[in-house]
Amino acid sequence: MIRKAVIPAAGLGTRFLPATKSQPKEMLPVVDTPAIHYVVKEAIEAGIDDILIITGKDKTAIENYFDRSVELEYLLEGKEGKEDLLHLVQDIAHLANIHYIRQKEPLGLGHAVLQAKQHVGNEPFCVLLGDDIFQAEVPVLKQMIVEYERYGDPVIALERIDPSQTDKYGIVDIHTTMSSRTYKLKDLVEKPPVSQAPSNLAIIGRYILTADIFEILENTKPGRGGEIQLTDGLRRLREQRDIFGYEPEGIRHDIGDKQGFLRATVEFALERTDIGPAFAEYLKDLVKRGI
Ligand code: UTP
Repeated sequence: MIRKAVIPAAGLGTRFLPATKSQPKEMLPVVDTPAIHYVVKEAIEAGIDDILIITGKDKTAIENYFDRSVELEYLLEGKEGKEDLLHLVQDIAHLANIHYIRQKEPLGLGHAVLQAKQHVGNEPFCVLLGDDIFQAEVPVLKQMIVEYERYGDPVIALERIDPSQTDKYGIVDIHTTMSSRTYKLKDLVEKPPVSQAPSNLAIIGRYILTADIFEILENTKPGRGGEIQLTDGLRRLREQRDIFGYEPEGIRHDIGDKQGFLRATVEFALERTDIGPAFAEYLKDLVKRGI
């Protein structure tokens, strides 16, 4: 059974400067809710009850968000008509059992995951990146746990991308197609140039891993960009055991990228019953005006 989730949130977020100068990109709000909140919710809906967030230099923004805010609660309590908001902020503080650990330097995603070694111990665990948020009927992590339970080996989420974009992702080489969405992997390569990419199946921000990855990451040298890459660790893990790739059902939004962030904002806003209809009217009006 998978009980623990790790959410690395210590990256520099350079693609989103200047907003990320003083807050992690995982705190950027999509409509009115920070990206990391959607990710924590997905983990809880998949049955996870223990969440470890790897924080970096701006750790207080995330810790404060998931903690109680006694002053805010006090102020809302004293205001008429603010009961719903009071419950909203109180509920966030009771979402899950959240722990924090600091990655002292942003030495890469592999290094961030390694910080979870002691907390995770010997259990299988999942890793969720705040860059990727999904609109999916069945939470993506829940879909992946089904695959993990079927095979008992690590499962990483994949998405078919435009072949011209392979140098922006970790890309997998397929060994065997197991079903319409699941593959046994032969190899993984970090950001290959288009001409050397073994496929157009890209690794996206959800992983179910086993504890043997930690020893490998401890011995993984910095790779591309001088960072300890999780993909390099997974490549070594693949030499020791099977790894499966799974294409989840649902729509992914890469909010670490400006276009992806804007699209997520529009689509999440349209889904909302409170603001969606008026926002849809506004978009129709924009189209009418030829914008
Ligand atoms: P990215 O590769 O998107 O890097 O990290 P980044 O630094 O956050 O963003 P850009 O590319 O400079 O804009 C993928 C995930 O790994 C985490 C990030 O927070 C993000 O969730 N990460 C990355 C860490 O926690 N520590 C690191 O050292 C690097």
